[in-house]
Amino acid sequence: MNKNLIFDKSYVDGLWVSEGDLYFDVFNPSNNKKIARVFDGGSKIAKKAVDAANNAFSSWSNKTAKFRSEILEKWCELIIENSDDLAEIMTLECGKPIKESKGEVLYGASFIKWFAEEGKRIYGDIIPSNSVDKRIVVLKQPIGVVAAITPWNFPLAMITRKVAPALAAGCTVVIRPSEETPLVATAILHLAEVAGFPPGVINLVLGKDPSPIGKVFCESNLVKKISFTGSTEVGKILFSQSASSLKKLSLELGGNAPFIVFEDADIDKAVEGAINSKFRNSGQTCVCVNRILIHDDIYNQFSLKLCNEVSKLKVGDGFDKDVKIGPMINKKAISKTNSFVEDSIKKGGEILTGGNPIGDCFFEPTVIGGASNEMKFSKEEIFGPVVPLYKFSSDEEAVKMANDTIYGLASYFYSKNISRCWKVAEELEYGMVGINEGLISSEVAPFGGVKFSGQGREGSKYGIEDYIEIKYMCFGNIK
Ligand code: SIN
Repeated sequence: MNKNLIFDKSYVDGLWVSEGDLYFDVFNPSNNKKIARVFDGGSKIAKKAVDAANNAFSSWSNKTAKFRSEILEKWCELIIENSDDLAEIMTLECGKPIKESKGEVLYGASFIKWFAEEGKRIYGDIIPSNSVDKRIVVLKQPIGVVAAITPWNFPLAMITRKVAPALAAGCTVVIRPSEETPLVATAILHLAEVAGFPPGVINLVLGKDPSPIGKVFCESNLVKKISFTGSTEVGKILFSQSASSLKKLSLELGGNAPFIVFEDADIDKAVEGAINSKFRNSGQTCVCVNRILIHDDIYNQFSLKLCNEVSKLKVGDGFDKDVKIGPMINKKAISKTNSFVEDSIKKGGEILTGGNPIGDCFFEPTVIGGASNEMKFSKEEIFGPVVPLYKFSSDEEAVKMANDTIYGLASYFYSKNISRCWKVAEELEYGMVGINEGLISSEVAPFGGVKFSGQGREGSKYGIEDYIEIKYMCFGNIK
């Protein structure tokens, strides 16, 4: 691993900085050993970073889209060149199996490439006028300083998915990465510096406690937009704290993804899709399957095949190339996952495979049969390698069960019937629907949810719109 990529400080106005002598430690979740100690920037550095981004905004937003695009392209190239090292840093601090970490680095780079291109296509409009002596023009301009608050489960890609469209549109940014995974963030900021972003255009604030930093972002009138990925609970706090500054927010929050297997589904493909979606990052993604709903007629067949495959998934340190299920991020995550299993057993569920923590760091991939509506995971996001199986007997019942949640991020179903595919896809109250597909994330597609899963879309041609203001110009007295 190239240790020269890692820094222990925040990055503000083109410099690696610290304030005072507060530190926090970063741990390897595979063995709970300390891997780094970094300076805690807290609210003081957050304020400086916001000022730096604000000062840099005028110059950056006045550059041509082509100029900005070339620096973004360079940043993307550097990330790809350093992808092996970045993947190792990621596995070290968030535990993700090394192959998945490499996949995330490339996934993260794909957003930079995509938005480097999209930034050149932020076209305005000329609107046919309502009067012969007037001309109406719509101009699209960058929104201003953007704060990106990002999670530990995708410590690189969630930064680039927010920051790349912002920078491409002409905004300047301040990033607050999770306290669990600051190292990969410092590594890509270093590469951003090498790529040639001018001082102040991209800033990073490290801190143990997210609250004071988040509060600075929310309450600042200089920050025009916050993009956050994390829990619904924290999303609501950011939303209410931003009321005084009337800030725009993109929120990518929790999920409770249903995975429906109809009686005409290709069972082998459905098992494969369920495993891909459920056990990605050891069940710690917000688009992970939370509930599998299976038609009565195929329940036994599907559950046998699923358990057979799940029991083969190797658990362990993400650096072991055969490992498919890495550690959970911390002990709290293990006890939360365990509480879902215990709750379901008390309420009549049956462990079909797995069911237990392994030491302090891991949890067995687990399938629970006979799930019912009273069980905790019917309403709450599991965020661990546990999946409950429910039965249904009609399309109406399946859709009703799938929609019976406050969340609306990802949903999935398997069927060979094209009419059913259209109807069910239209009826699911979710921002994303995987139809005969368990992996739906991509830089070309709009990622985001409805209901308590948030607002706004990331990636795709829509992803840049969240960073743009529309200005209407009326030219009068044209003779
Ligand atoms: C997330 O879990 O927050 C993001 C997952 C993805 O981009 O696929």
